[in-house]
Amino acid sequence: MSAILEATNISKIYDEGAVRTQVLTGLDLSVRPGERIAIVGTSGSGKSTLLHLLGGLDTPTSGEVWLHGKCLNHMNETERGLMRNQHLGFVYQFHHLLAEFTAIENVAMPLLMRPKVSTADARNQAIEILENVGLGHRLEHRPGELSGGERQRVAIARALVTKPSLILADEPTGNLDYDNAQSVFAMLSELQNTMQTALLMVTHDRNLAALADRQLLLRNGKWEQY
Ligand SMILES: Nc1ncnc2c1ncn2[C@@H]1O[C@H](COP(=O)(O)OP(=O)(O)O)[C@@H](O)[C@H]1O
Ligand SMILES: [Mg+2]
Repeated sequence: MSAILEATNISKIYDEGAVRTQVLTGLDLSVRPGERIAIVGTSGSGKSTLLHLLGGLDTPTSGEVWLHGKCLNHMNETERGLMRNQHLGFVYQFHHLLAEFTAIENVAMPLLMRPKVSTADARNQAIEILENVGLGHRLEHRPGELSGGERQRVAIARALVTKPSLILADEPTGNLDYDNAQSVFAMLSELQNTMQTALLMVTHDRNLAALADRQLLLRNGKWEQY
């Protein structure tokens, strides 16, 4: 089947006055539907930069990113935002939930950004997915009233509630202890598998990386033999 995400010859240079930092050099990547890819690399190797470019949160210095047959490079911010909302889910190392909102409200938010979704529909879908991640008993809790593992589950529910075709996850278990990391990853895998969502995950943990279909090693902004 054809790729859902295709990146060709991606380079990124941060240019700040006298300081010029080449972070990524000529990277190619292609993600097929439902595929699970793990990216590993030491701190500073460009993993987060790459995920931002692939997710249309930043633009490459050169090279192209294609999502569902559309090139993200030349879109304006509104168009890119629509593509993100329609096709992508993001999970970060630190949950990025909004402190003043409940679990349901946080998870419903990406649905409420869509023009034709009612509040009731969004809430119902949020409840359903929160139940799927084992948080049916924490629906009205705010992030500050949840454990680290529970917050990551809410973050994953929020990323998946829109039924994206690809999840971009930047160290999603990096802030959790071993047992929580295992169970959060198992839950993410199971949902990803049932929903046929592709997963591109940055991780430090080679044991978790081994569970993916494909492993990629980023070193100094280039792919190396894993
Ligand atoms: N906005 C920026 N301006 C300048 N340099 C940056 C910027 N963001 C990241 N970098 C540099 O790019 C390199 C890669 O960063 P990053 O993608 O965050 O790495 P990783 O996620 O693999 O730890 C680092 O050396 C970092 O200092
Ligand atoms: Mg990073």
